[in-house]
Parts: sequence; structure tokens; C-alpha cells
Amino acid sequence: MPATCHPAQTHQNHDKSFEHTAREAVYHAIFGRRDVRSHFSPEPLEDAVLARLLTAAHHAPSVGYMQPWNFIVIRDMARRERMRDLFFAAREQELPNIAAERQALYRKLKLEGICESAVNLCITCDRSRAQNSPLGRWHNPQMDLYSTVCAVQNFWLAARAEGVGVGWVSILDERAVKRELEIPAHVAPVAYLCVGRVSQFANRPDLEEKGWGSRLPLPGLIMSETFGGSGEAALKDAVLRGFPSLRS
Ligand SMILES: Cc1cc2nc3c(=O)[nH]c(=O)nc-3n(C[C@H](O)[C@H](O)[C@H](O)COP(=O)(O)O)c2cc1C
Repeated sequence: MPATCHPAQTHQNHDKSFEHTAREAVYHAIFGRRDVRSHFSPEPLEDAVLARLLTAAHHAPSVGYMQPWNFIVIRDMARRERMRDLFFAAREQELPNIAAERQALYRKLKLEGICESAVNLCITCDRSRAQNSPLGRWHNPQMDLYSTVCAVQNFWLAARAEGVGVGWVSILDERAVKRELEIPAHVAPVAYLCVGRVSQFANRPDLEEKGWGSRLPLPGLIMSETFGGSGEAALKDAVLRGFPSLRS
């Protein structure tokens, strides 16, 4: 007999939920997380805190339990200045590809905090760690990269809970980053992060504040059954009713 998919169970099992305050705290971290680049404070980041953030990252899900990540901690200011120079060079290369009417705004945006943050962190993906046993990656080899991004998100959310800011710098030439950090060929640098205590967490994304973009309405992103499928009116209504505090 073929396996069947059971529809949602009729009895609801809430006893595995977090209690109210803990659940609120999870959403608080999710909604209060920000990409930080302007508000780093000069104080150092304690190793005990960084250790907790790395431990959170290391508990991310990973394809085939591959755990493909490594964490390069970058403290040396001379190296960080070279990284910032790489950012400036990459930004100049990116600029001509930005729509002409947005280039002036792009130039004004602060898009990194490499030297102002307490520490930099490069989270990498070792693409060979599955040792020729690509459970879950034979059809989709990029799943190891996705797993590493899960580690980044764990780190980012835990950081918010600890009052630590994180800014992701992706405007960098990958080959130059690999040279500077001596990353071998089979390892991909996935995220270059600026990490440190902050003076504030903004309520809204900086790019929203500066008029670069705004959050897309979630109901318009929900599809039914197939790509572009309309429907799910009740779910979309529920989305609009949930989290009143998010409504501006
Ligand atoms: C993969 C990735 C790369 C990003 N690269 C940059 C970057 O190079 N510079 C920057 O200022 N922000 C970067 N960001 C942050 C986004 O701009 C930010 O997440 C978005 O504007 C929403 O703001 P929020 O994270 O504060 O909610 C990146 C975010 C992601 C997920």
C-alpha cells in the first residue's frame, strides 16, 4: 500500500509549545534582529558570549548532519582594514550595476562595520566534509551551503538575544576573501560578519529607513498548491490578524 499523507490532525497538541514568555522571547529575537553596521560600540565582546553564539550556530540543522561550517575569528585590525579595502573595491564594481537613479542613495548607505565592530567572523562551508557520502546532497549539492546559512541565522538570532549586533557583508570579491583568509579551494566563505556590542537596535531595517526598500506584504507571497496558485484566503486573513504589534 502506498504511503499516504495524513491531513492535519484534528486534536491539537499544545503541550509541547513553549510557555508564553519563552515563546514571546523567540519572536522578540526574530522581529528585533537587525543587520547592524552603524551602531557598534567600542567595548570588547566577551569570549563567553561569543562562545555561546558559536554554540548556537553549531546547533543549526545541516544536510546529512554534515555540519560543514568553520568559524574564522578575525581580530587583527590590519587584516580588517584590508578586508574593508576589499569592500570598498567591490562596492565600486557593484555601483555601475545599480539603477542610475538609485546610485546616489547607494553611495550614501553604510553597508559594513568591519573596523568599528569588536570582532569579525567568517563562517565557511567545507564542501568536502561529507567524505563521499552525500546524504541529501546527491541531487542537490548546494544543500551544504544552505546548511551553513542556517548556522548564520542561529548565530544572528542568538546574538540579538545577547544584545550583540551582527552585520553581514556580502559586497566582497570571493577570491580576494579566500586569499586574505587563506581559505582552501574546497571551502566556500559563506558569510563575513561584523559582530559586537551596539548602542542600539533600530526598530526597522536600515534599508527601509533610508528608502531603499520596504517589507513586502506577506499575503501576496503565499501561494496555493502550485506556484502562482491563488487561494488560502483564511490563512492570508490570519496573517493580517497575527502580531498586531508589527503593524505600523
Ligand atoms: C545574504 C545576505 C547578505 C547581506 N549583505 C549585506 C551587505 O553586504 N551589506 C549590508 O549592509 N547588509 C547586508 N545584508 C543585510 C540586509 O541588507 C538586511 O538583512 C536587510 O536590509 C533587512 O534588514 P534587517 O536584517 O535589519 O532586518 C545582507 C543580508 C543577507 C541575508
